[in-house]
Amino acid sequence: MSDFDEKALCHIDDIDEGATKGFLENAAGHDLFFVVKKDGQLFAWRNACPHVNGAPMAWRKDAYMDAKKQHVACHAHGALFEPTTGLCIQGPCLGKALEKIPIHISQAGVVSIQVTNVN
Ligand code: FES
Repeated sequence: MSDFDEKALCHIDDIDEGATKGFLENAAGHDLFFVVKKDGQLFAWRNACPHVNGAPMAWRKDAYMDAKKQHVACHAHGALFEPTTGLCIQGPCLGKALEKIPIHISQAGVVSIQVTNVN
């Protein structure tokens, strides 16, 4: 695999507004990162809470949002994050931020990632 390999993840329409989808599940069953759609735009964040040394955040597969679908939530201790900036706005890691993962969206709407970006 070269340093520039891209991996197709999904189509932009595969993620509903206010929803999230996780990708690249590890052996423990946790996604390496997830994508959230907010106001029609996609944002990708590493599935690693800044509160406890990279703890996984979803309470089940693809469930990264709070009940109101307004904020990304860490379900371990209830931290809330802005879906567009990754900034924690409530909870034990207030002021810290999620790690952004660069993604690419083609003109055809295919969402992809450079594999080297998540290694
Ligand atoms: S591990 Fe995420 S809020 Fe504690």
